[in-house]
Amino acid sequence: EKGAYPHYMLKEMDEQPSVIRKISKAYESELGDLTIAPEIKQALQQADRLYIIAAGTSYHAGLVGKQYFEKMAQKPVEVHISSEFGYNMPLLSQKPLFIFITQSGETADSRQVLVKIKELGYPSLTITNVQGSTLSREADHTLLLHAGPEIAVASTKAYVAQIAVLAIAAYAIAEDKVMDVKQELAIAANAIQVMVDAKAAIEEIALAYLPIARNAFFIGRNMDYYVAMEGALKLKEISYIQAEGFAGGELKHGTIALIEEGTPVFALVTQEAVALNIRGNVKEVAARGAHACIIAMEGVAEEGDHLVLPQVHELLTPLVAVVPLQLISYYAALHRRCDVDKPRNLAKSVTVE
Ligand code: F6R
Repeated sequence: EKGAYPHYMLKEMDEQPSVIRKISKAYESELGDLTIAPEIKQALQQADRLYIIAAGTSYHAGLVGKQYFEKMAQKPVEVHISSEFGYNMPLLSQKPLFIFITQSGETADSRQVLVKIKELGYPSLTITNVQGSTLSREADHTLLLHAGPEIAVASTKAYVAQIAVLAIAAYAIAEDKVMDVKQELAIAANAIQVMVDAKAAIEEIALAYLPIARNAFFIGRNMDYYVAMEGALKLKEISYIQAEGFAGGELKHGTIALIEEGTPVFALVTQEAVALNIRGNVKEVAARGAHACIIAMEGVAEEGDHLVLPQVHELLTPLVAVVPLQLISYYAALHRRCDVDKPRNLAKSVTVE
């Protein structure tokens, strides 16, 4: 029931602030703090290393989650693409815990890994949107995303839900709390609202940069790098524009050769420590003719930036920065008359290997 919405994707992007608020409620303890079930907390605490296994957008959320566990809770994490894990199993630590991130809970590549690590006797946790899904039933523990059904093939609200739940899980096992996750998620929900309310400005960006583009680049550093990859995936999926997301520092190692007159480059600037470096990358591509669009966060934004995001905690920037990229993809696809909710060649849950 998309109601007045022309597409599920638009509805689901609009739901993102309320999804964050719902998650906050769902994970609230009696004391009013955000936490996770004691047995899941214990499983995370007992592990000496976490192995996150996921595909596509969920993999991109996993990359952000790694930062949370390592920075908030000093817990080492590896993130693996599920389809690769089978042939390239890393050397495992003494006490691994496997975390499967999967919106549908049905992705065959991820399930394959779960079956294998269960045979080996390792513990598992599934983070999913679908209660009772295969990966939820078969893992030892489940954390739910509470995002409500996601119908559009391109994942949007599940991604922000995954990041929020990963932040809560990392926070729950952190000894020194580096942030008040409840308060910071509330601030992030408001910031996402500001972005979904900025549709008109974002549509203009999509029209200015992408109506006839054959390709596009998304660049960022640190957290912004992960969001750049997600932005590129969204654009590819629904607008069929060839897109690549990569680390700003990697430009000079090859990709910059692709920059021509008018090539769209979207640069994310949310991380203070690397703001100057990524702005340097923008200058490099602009000098070679790129049509650069700077999406920056308050606090590090400068005059002339094309879109300014409200400021949120440095670790939570992906929740907000991804939203304009989702909307840019949406409007680019719309204006190119693509089937936004059901892109060609794609299925919502990939139940074949
Ligand atoms: C991207 C997208 C896919 C899924 C991937 C994993 O918009 O929808 O990349 O993220 O197929 O699916 P789940 O999370 O259901 O395991």
